[in-house]
Amino acid sequence: MRRKLGLIPWSLLLCLLFSLSASAADLTGDWIATAPLPDGGSMQLMLRLKQEGAKLTGIVSLSSRDLALQNGQVSGQGFAFTVQTTLGDESRTLSYSGTFNGDEIELSAPPRGTLPPLQYKGRRASAAEVAANWPARIDPPARHDVASNGLAPTPPMGWNSWNHFHRHIDDKTVREIADAMVANGMKDAGYIYVNIDDTWEDSRDAQGNILTNSKFPDMKALAAYVHSKGLKLGIYSSPGTRTCANFEGSYGHEAQDARTYAAWGIDYLKYDWCSASKVYQDSDMPAIYQKMGEALLAAGRPIVYSLCQYGRDNVWEWGPSVGGNLWRTTGDISDTWKSMIKIAFAQEGLEKWAGPGHWNDPDMLEVGNGGMSDEEYRTHMTIWCVLAAPLLAGNDLRSASRATLDILENREVVGVDQDALGKQGHRVLTAANTAVWAKPLAGGGQAVALFNAGSEATTVAVKWSDLGLSGTLQVRDLWAHADRGKVADGFSSQVPPHGVVLIKVKP
Ligand code: GLA
Repeated sequence: MRRKLGLIPWSLLLCLLFSLSASAADLTGDWIATAPLPDGGSMQLMLRLKQEGAKLTGIVSLSSRDLALQNGQVSGQGFAFTVQTTLGDESRTLSYSGTFNGDEIELSAPPRGTLPPLQYKGRRASAAEVAANWPARIDPPARHDVASNGLAPTPPMGWNSWNHFHRHIDDKTVREIADAMVANGMKDAGYIYVNIDDTWEDSRDAQGNILTNSKFPDMKALAAYVHSKGLKLGIYSSPGTRTCANFEGSYGHEAQDARTYAAWGIDYLKYDWCSASKVYQDSDMPAIYQKMGEALLAAGRPIVYSLCQYGRDNVWEWGPSVGGNLWRTTGDISDTWKSMIKIAFAQEGLEKWAGPGHWNDPDMLEVGNGGMSDEEYRTHMTIWCVLAAPLLAGNDLRSASRATLDILENREVVGVDQDALGKQGHRVLTAANTAVWAKPLAGGGQAVALFNAGSEATTVAVKWSDLGLSGTLQVRDLWAHADRGKVADGFSSQVPPHGVVLIKVKP
């Protein structure tokens, strides 16, 4: 009897120990993990996991968005899952794997966007960390129209740090870029905005004012320097708590941040949705963008307002009504022919939404970044100009070759983009690998681009009747800077592979 009684507590204890160790060994719960970046920075993510036997579900919460786990499996102390993500314009499956031990976790993340493969180490997240990642929803304001700021009568022109420098941008580099733009003819060609993209932000002070990190010691002094060169300074933020590169966003501080930008002397804001998706639905976008549009107007300084939410929720339909001067129509461009030409030709049909003060933005230029040939970069530049797209160079202008500058600075081609009529071009003809696009110009002429997207040289032709014109037209080749005389009926030209011929026709 005594032996029997003695056994009961022991077996209970064993049971209890077993269940404790089982729950500690279970991945269920919220985790926070950090990975070092090669340049000394770090990336952070959160995991909200639910383990049921060998099955793992939940979400991986990146700085810019939450992604649902797919194919989640647990085996011993190891686990793996995939997520589906959109990079640029392509949907991709990313595979993650890791190990866990009690309250510690390790996770190998595949390369993503501009990031290399990363090794995360983490632990269970505190309630405060969970609340910071998934903040309480601040209800969007009621919708109403924001008055126009009167800016951007033609598509904004300038430079942006992201495509080339990503997070490696600082005060010194921005000053050098401004100097280069004055010295190499970019400023004279019309490129005025010098735009700092993501990664300038630090935390906030006790009053909630946004602080710059050590890369940008004095934003006001930097703005003064850029202005002294006859240029303007742009900056970047997100309506979410975190930017896409996991820096401080403007969530709950919109009016305060707009006042800070104005006080610094900022002339342009790119406002990138990113982590706002952790709080809001796409249908909340108009109201959320309206909030900053109004804050910028109230801040009392002319600030061009650039919406960046990758063309979701038909932004072109409501962009102007929230005070937007331009809005991205696509995911991120990359420096490849495939990415560029896919984005370019996908702009068809959006022409009716663009006009003076409000432009479709197919993303920044990659000209000169090295992933395409000069022929391909001329095609890139041509279609952006025919589209009346904002022209934001995305290369290192301190070391740009003459060939690159000749593409960016071609006055006649830039003139098509900046034409006072402010009409976005449209597709006129498409064949197997060729296309003709036309852009109506002030004074009754048209810019006509003959594209060859194929890998063999070919002849591309257009009839004046395709353009709604007739008779004899004056033709000028804008890349060759050559008059082609008075031409009846139509025009045809041999076009190199991945190349373009851009003409201007005038009755
Ligand atoms: C998003 C934007 C990019 C760039 C990065 C910065 O991906 O679409 O243009 O601003 O964020 O993190």
